Amino acid sequence: MTDSLTKPLPLTAYERWQRQEGVPIHHAYYVESLYTLDLGPWARKGGSGAYLNLGKQEEDDAYVVEIPPGGELIPEHHLFEALLFVLSGRGATSVWANGAERRTVEWQAGSLFSPPLNCWYQHFNASGSEPARLLAVTGQPKAFETYRSPEFIYGCDWTFRDRFGGEEDYFKDPGRRLMRLCWRTNFVPDVRSFPLEEEPERGPGFNMKFALAENSMVAHVSEFPIATYKKAHRHGPGAYVIILGGEGYSRLWFEGDAESMRVDWRDGSVLSPSDGMYHQHFNTGRGPARYLALRPGGHPEFGAARHQRHEDQRAVNQIEYQEEDPAIREEYEAELAKIGLTIQLNTEEYRLADTYARVARGELV
Ligand SMILES: [Fe+2]
Repeated sequence: MTDSLTKPLPLTAYERWQRQEGVPIHHAYYVESLYTLDLGPWARKGGSGAYLNLGKQEEDDAYVVEIPPGGELIPEHHLFEALLFVLSGRGATSVWANGAERRTVEWQAGSLFSPPLNCWYQHFNASGSEPARLLAVTGQPKAFETYRSPEFIYGCDWTFRDRFGGEEDYFKDPGRRLMRLCWRTNFVPDVRSFPLEEEPERGPGFNMKFALAENSMVAHVSEFPIATYKKAHRHGPGAYVIILGGEGYSRLWFEGDAESMRVDWRDGSVLSPSDGMYHQHFNTGRGPARYLALRPGGHPEFGAARHQRHEDQRAVNQIEYQEEDPAIREEYEAELAKIGLTIQLNTEEYRLADTYARVARGELV
């Protein structure tokens, strides 16, 4: 083996920054429970937390931060986007910028929002007895790759007027449907109960994408019915998949791998498939399974179409039910049998749905 493969690599600016933060850093493909994840004191934020670098992602990262009962975190602002999902508790976040009114959003477990790029923000816990725990997925690694200066990334005073002008209804506006499967808003009170639209292309199920705070990072929620599983697929880097409800497992593998990795999940688990890694989700619960994915995806006006085209141009990005290894369905049917269920999947129907969707996208004409 050559030196270049065995010698430890020098730390990147991002890694140096992360280490001096002093909180635990979790590297894996999944974490069983974000609710009980080990946290450490986080002096810079004034609470406790941990970083998550799952799936060897370099495009984005994640962290969990906890606000003590009756407490608040230290205000901050930064030159990268952050999507925030409330894991537990209730509280509020104030957002402000030079020359713009301060706006405050009140949140609870299940809420989703994002402080606009480089705006100041501060989190408050509304409970005097329970901690509040948030998950963030952020573009921080790319910002450090570009600027390598924490003083600039956390200290630049530029205001992005096209992102935030202190609008009175900034967090109150429930939003609007931009297009099929895409909702534009700055605050989703509860992603667990938000109505979804049918999306049969990847197997039975429902979906909705959220474009928040004029970000290039996006979120989507997906739900699939009892006794069904999704088609295996792969795409670009950076997706953190947070389980919101139900029980099941996922399989992850790279093309050519002799074996795939199995990850069992439930409410509060998170997994992250690497760039180009196949992944496939299986529902083994007694009801629907729902997850939230936080990821790069492109601003709906400026970048989403390009991002999608890039994904669609991959030679093979989805494995149809008919084309998959028969062992995949055998394992799934055996798992269902353990809880007295049989598979609820009309394979032919979903093959046709996929064909129609691809024709509609102009891929098959
Ligand atoms: Fe995916």
